[in-house]
Formats: sequence, structure tokens, C-alpha cells
Amino acid sequence: MLKRLGRVLVYLLAILALYQIVIRILAKGFRRWVQVPAPAFLGYFLSSRFRYGLQPSVEVIRRSGIEPGMNVLDLGCGSGALALPLADFVGEQGRVIAVDLQRHMLRQLTARMTPADFDCNLPVQASAYALPLANASLDACVMSSTLQEIPNRQRALREVWRVLKPGGILAVTEFLIDPDYPLISTTIRLGEEAGFEVKAVKGTFWNYTVRFRKMPDAYQAMLRVSRKLEDSGVTARGLYEASRQELEDRTDRLL
Ligand SMILES: C[S@@+](CC[C@H](N)C(=O)[O-])C[C@H]1O[C@@H](n2cnc3c(N)ncnc32)[C@H](O)[C@@H]1O
Repeated sequence: MLKRLGRVLVYLLAILALYQIVIRILAKGFRRWVQVPAPAFLGYFLSSRFRYGLQPSVEVIRRSGIEPGMNVLDLGCGSGALALPLADFVGEQGRVIAVDLQRHMLRQLTARMTPADFDCNLPVQASAYALPLANASLDACVMSSTLQEIPNRQRALREVWRVLKPGGILAVTEFLIDPDYPLISTTIRLGEEAGFEVKAVKGTFWNYTVRFRKMPDAYQAMLRVSRKLEDSGVTARGLYEASRQELEDRTDRLL
């Protein structure tokens, strides 16, 4: 009996590994030639019970650091798998702006909304590159299985930066089932390159959320300077050694 169970487990793991290899090769090859978002029919799977079972929305919301009363952007909301539970969570004092590029995805979201939902959930068709939102107007932005789908990720993250208040949250959630799934280190690098600071990494390797914080403008300026220095071969250690040497030379001259 145990032997048979073990064999079934090995088969399941082999199928999962094969799925990951095939789907990733297909996605990589496909994305090289065609940059299109997830087809709208996938919205039915994204908001299915099966998906909620594998990736409970409450857990994603908790990991993202969302609090009741917050104004939250769900960027690339799809059919609303996260936007609807988010609206419940932020409550009457809060608001969810559910943005997606595709009208057909938003249609699936609005079909599931009750009249009361429209008070705190605002579906908007827009591109991540040009959000129709004011500067520093939001407390948080969640992106679930979306960032990797956007061809120019830095451009999108700059827009997120613009609409977030100082100290605002950017929570990027990724799930292994998604053919575009990136490693945690890739997500961290993308966020840091855009000038966000990592606050927490929650969940598991296959279903994680990286929570970033929008740092003040001065931090971004410092980041730009340190990158320029690094590009020209100057490291923080090098700077430290050089200034220590200079100090020692001056002391010697004085004595
Ligand atoms: C894989 S779906 C994930 C949907 C949802 N966040 C979820 O977890 O169920 C990615 C979504 O991002 C949207 N998207 C892709 N590129 C976008 C862009 N440049 N601007 C806005 N939305 C975009 C797609 O239309 C799609 O609905």
C-alpha cells in the first residue's frame, strides 16, 4: 500500500516538473515574438474555486499588508479574483481601484459585482504605463501574477511609484502555476531597481508576496548616485578606504 502511494507521489511530482518545464519553454518562446496579456477566457479560471483553494485571496491580502480603510490599486486585476475580496477587506472607509488593460477581463469582474460593491470598487480600463490617477494618491498597490506580463516593467513600476503616497506599499504576488512565474530574487531586483525598499517576503517559494515600500525621493536620488558610482567602478568600500587614507595623510602632515 505504502509502496503504491509512494509511486503515485513520484508520478505526480514528475507530471508537475514536466508541466513546469514545458509551460516555461513555451511561454519564453512565445513571449519573445508576441507580447500579449493573458487571454480573457483565463479569467474564469483565475476567479475559480480551484484557484481560491490553491491561493486563498485572504492570505494574499494579509501578506500584502493591506489594512481596512486603505485606498488600494489592484493593477492587472483580471477578472477580480483579488479586487472583490480586497473591497470587502478595506471596507466602507477604503476604496479599490481595479485596473486592467482588457475590457473583457473587467467585464467578468463587473458581472460578479453587486450594486453595493460599486461604492468601494472602481473598475477602470487603463494601461499600467499611464494610470489615470493623481500623484501620491494611494496607500497601496497590489500586483498578482501581473508584473511579468508587462513588457516594460520598469515603466509600469515608475507609474506605480508616482501614484503611491510616500511610504506606500507595493505588494507583488507570484504563483508557480503561472507560466510567467519569476523567482523571488527576480521580483526583488525589479522592485529595488525602481527605487522601492523590500519590507517583507511572505509565503512560500511557489506562492509568495514581496512587500515593498515607496521610499522618499531622496532615497531614489541616493540610489541613482550609488549606481553611477558603481558603474564607474567606485565601490562604497573603495570610497571608505580612499577617505581613510586621505585622513591619515593629513594627520601625518600636521604632526
Ligand atoms: C495573469 S492575469 C492576473 C489577474 C489577477 N491579478 C489575478 O491574480 O487573478 C494578468 C492581468 O494583467 C493584465 N495586464 C497585462 N498587461 C497589462 C498592462 N500593461 N496594463 C494593465 N493590465 C495589464 C492582463 O490583462 C491580465 O488581466
